[in-house]
Amino acid sequence: MDKGKTYLVTGGAGFIGSNYIKYIIDKYDNIKVVNLDKLTYAGNQENLQSVADKDNYTFIKGDICDQKLIGELFEKYSPDYVINFAAESHVDRSIGNPDDFIKTDIYGVYSLLENCRNFGIEKFVQISTDEVYGSIDKGSFSEDDTFNPSSPYAASKTGGDRLAYSYFVTYDLPVVITRASNNYGPNQYPEKLIPLFITNAIDNKKLPLYGDGKNVRDWLFVEDHCKGVEFVLQNGKNGEAYNIAGNCELQNIEITKKILELTGKSEELIEYVKDRAGHDRRYSLDDSKIADLGWQPEYDFEEGMRETVEWYKNHEYWWRKIKSGEYLEYYKEHYGEDM
Ligand code: NAD
Ligand code: DAU
Repeated sequence: MDKGKTYLVTGGAGFIGSNYIKYIIDKYDNIKVVNLDKLTYAGNQENLQSVADKDNYTFIKGDICDQKLIGELFEKYSPDYVINFAAESHVDRSIGNPDDFIKTDIYGVYSLLENCRNFGIEKFVQISTDEVYGSIDKGSFSEDDTFNPSSPYAASKTGGDRLAYSYFVTYDLPVVITRASNNYGPNQYPEKLIPLFITNAIDNKKLPLYGDGKNVRDWLFVEDHCKGVEFVLQNGKNGEAYNIAGNCELQNIEITKKILELTGKSEELIEYVKDRAGHDRRYSLDDSKIADLGWQPEYDFEEGMRETVEWYKNHEYWWRKIKSGEYLEYYKEHYGEDM
């Protein structure tokens, strides 16, 4: 039973990190959580309203690249566990401007690892991604397969993934790595496929489907991902990576039609647009390694999507603020006025 530990969660104001913090605070009685987040465009303290006033939760605004700050946090809080969710996470943005991706997703991981090495910790969890493997036409990737990242995002995440591994091999740092499929659920920034399309559909706006709409992604409900990360933290073997799959592969057009069905909107809202540069055709994970340890996702896609659509319907105040601001400027710049 993991009681009394101090978790340093980085990137905890984002989509998955905030869901993870709420999950562990709810699960354990006696842990402390320190959330270090730079509050980029994707970080949002409203995601953590339900835990913000708790005595065992502390928020620190800061950059994982800032080694001095991280050192001070280690001195002050002596974390047992470091779980690194912090990243630039959107593939389209990495195509437009890779710079921040290289800084946060590679140098930021190094900065955390150096401090972990100097201060000592029980576990460092690097949240990696299935995108490190690249695209696969048939079959599924296992943890030992070759890396073939296609976008600057995926390549920088591969750098962070391997840096973490190198600190296990070279310095014996207790590192585990998770590589999950596409997440969906509450609090996802509405630039990613599912929240963008749900919120556009609610507003009767077009749903911009890239290319032929037949790219395949494997979908994992965010709560399952959080449980999977915690499972790997508690049960994973140092130096090992674990795929966390949703076992739910769908073409983008199938997702789009499901969203239109659940929002009660017409398929006339679908608009095929120019394809993403270097667009990976299909992601697929073999998750037998984590399954053999005793973990599997609980949600089925129908259930997860119903909950997700309901959440966006009931939290317009959350996403309307975002969509009326810089996000809109970004999309206008890239895809034209009518987005
Ligand atoms: P997100 O973009 O919603 O959140 C990222 C968070 O990191 C934000 O709160 C942001 O403010 C923070 N951040 C960014 N740069 C930082 C820095 N330099 N220092 C401190 N904080 C910083 O991302 P997400 O979708 O929640 O993804 C979280 C992690 O999970 C990422 O590492 C991502 O690569 C990985 N991942 C995501 C998915 C997915 O489908 N979303 C799937 C697999 C893995
Ligand atoms: O696979 C895990 C990865 O999933 C994570 O590591 C990334 O952080 C996360 O952003 C996600 O990457 P994707 O590129 O797969 O997700 P995105 O939601 O951007 O796109 C999903 C699919 O939908 C992809 O094939 C591109 C397509 N798409 C996306 C958008 C935003 C569209 O057709 N239209 C769109 O407007």
